[in-house]
Amino acid sequence: MLSREQVWELARSVHAYGIEVRRHIHRYPELSFEEHETHKYLAAELQKLGHSFRSHLGGGTGLHVVIEGKQPGPVVALRADIDALPIQEETGLPFASERPGIMHACGHDVHTAVLLATAKALQSIKDDLPGTVVLIFQPGEERNPGGASLMIRDGVLDRPKVDAIFGLHVDPYLQVGRMAFAPGPVMAAPDELRVTVTGRGGHGAWPHRTVDPIVTAAQVITSLQQIVARNVDPIRPAVLTVGLIQGGTAHNVIPDEVSFVGTVRTMHEEVRRLMPERIETVIRGVCAAAGATYRMEYEHGYPVLVNDPEATEIGRRAAIAVLGEENVGAMEPSMGGEDFAYYLERVPGTFARLGVRSPDNLAPHGLHTSRLMIDESSIAVGVAYYIQVVQSFLTGDR
Ligand code: NI
Repeated sequence: MLSREQVWELARSVHAYGIEVRRHIHRYPELSFEEHETHKYLAAELQKLGHSFRSHLGGGTGLHVVIEGKQPGPVVALRADIDALPIQEETGLPFASERPGIMHACGHDVHTAVLLATAKALQSIKDDLPGTVVLIFQPGEERNPGGASLMIRDGVLDRPKVDAIFGLHVDPYLQVGRMAFAPGPVMAAPDELRVTVTGRGGHGAWPHRTVDPIVTAAQVITSLQQIVARNVDPIRPAVLTVGLIQGGTAHNVIPDEVSFVGTVRTMHEEVRRLMPERIETVIRGVCAAAGATYRMEYEHGYPVLVNDPEATEIGRRAAIAVLGEENVGAMEPSMGGEDFAYYLERVPGTFARLGVRSPDNLAPHGLHTSRLMIDESSIAVGVAYYIQVVQSFLTGDR
């Protein structure tokens, strides 16, 4: 077992490397499932580090690294997502995105840098590890069906069989040097709703000769809000947001059709099952009253992310060991979605938050914004946490 000082010494020894990796990836961001250059770069770096790995996974751009210790033992996996978002960067950083309209605005550049720097750190201690460390670099976290599900299909949890998995996400509101954990359901299942209401169009002056899909769709959307308010258990969170509505061509023409799309987010399986059933009942009833018809499509996104209580405690204690009790807090649940949930359906593990806010930044920009800023000293913090969680899990000293 490395002492707290030795863990930090190791994390600091790869910090400059982590920053270099982060800046490179930040400068050349790629969209979900199109991370070809990132994949090539990671493969080249892993080759230099001398680790054995499989590439071209998860639809083509994922990597699976297996680091075997000298002695047999359990298998612990660590995961990073590598994709960026369709956002035009406005940070003004010297290493800002060189790809117009694409930016690492969700911090996946940091996740990737932390994991690659951890790979470098593990190089020097792997002979002493009583077990195996699996590193997963996955594509497409930001887009259905989620790179995680494709990586699992390609065997990253089975060859070798993973006993537990740990992951993290940057938190722009949490100060650097801090982390947060929580057991149980902490992130939502983000499902998608698409509806078309069909009436019968005509002149705006003679509504009695039409079936107005605009008025009907407006009633449908208003009524849908009552599902969360009146059908869902108030202590179980649910969100129904209609984010886009389309229909019509002119002020005096009643159109034939109106369509709208929305996101439906829940944190418990029974609420998740209830939503499409209630939604369709409401749409059917409102349309019938108006004499309109409808088409509804409902697409399930990622599962609810449920942190395993025991693994969460292992992670929390590892963070306390390197950061001190005062810097490890409780993670607030969020209605955001995250495909790490797929791994947690298969093996116990925990998904934590990593603080990346500089102490002097009092008005941070959020994830998925063009001005997201990261305090890069968070990279060494992430590496120290990963080294500690690996050695805690493998030695059983939890
Ligand atoms: Ni993200």
